[in-house]
Amino acid sequence: APDGALRGRHVLVTSGPTHEPIDPVRYVANRSSGRQGHAIAAAARRAGARVTLVSGPVALPDPPGVHVVHIETAREMLAAVEAALPADIGIFAAAVADWRPVGEAEQKIKKDGSAPAPLSLVENPDILATIARGHGRRPPLVVGFAAETERVVEHARAKLARKGCDLIVANDVSPGSGVMGGARNSVHLVTADGVESWPTLDKDEVARRLVERLAELVDRS
Ligand code: C5P
Repeated sequence: APDGALRGRHVLVTSGPTHEPIDPVRYVANRSSGRQGHAIAAAARRAGARVTLVSGPVALPDPPGVHVVHIETAREMLAAVEAALPADIGIFAAAVADWRPVGEAEQKIKKDGSAPAPLSLVENPDILATIARGHGRRPPLVVGFAAETERVVEHARAKLARKGCDLIVANDVSPGSGVMGGARNSVHLVTADGVESWPTLDKDEVARRLVERLAELVDRS
């Protein structure tokens, strides 16, 4: 993005997976690396924004100049996001665990050869939908992600409406695409106005172009 395109703006980004504890030694998680979300936070910073990055556990360094809030669970992520508002742009790139184990056992759960696994799950809050739909401090521009393995654009369109966001960055994470954890990404930008498909690019380049596009959109909002 052109230097300074986001000067004076506050950009809030979520990134990485969440870890949902089962007991003191085990958790439920997913394969998100946080690379795309972290690249977006770094690109927004380079474009002059003040950036808050709410990150789950990742193996990446904190991007320079970015205020990073480290959390583990979805509920902690939602609390950190609400604490960081208001923002001009909210970019929800985290792979939030859809479910968490009911309760967290205080002691390590012991196996019992005959009993069924003592794991029941409950849905986590949807952070993107909570902020995008009727929140008193909804950012003027709210961006969601859609990782799909089939009918990517169709699912992204439905998600745009369901979540109440302004733009969905949709990508194909089929096994073999190499997107999950990889350095490159092929994305489609889906808005109420239509779809724009980008070629496969480095995640850093996807971040740079996305920030450039968001700077244009927020200037018009
Ligand atoms: O519903 P689905 O997980 O496919 O939606 C993905 C989008 O919603 C992403 O932008 C993700 O960060 C966000 N999300 C969220 N909180 C959840 C689940 C998804 O913010 N609990």
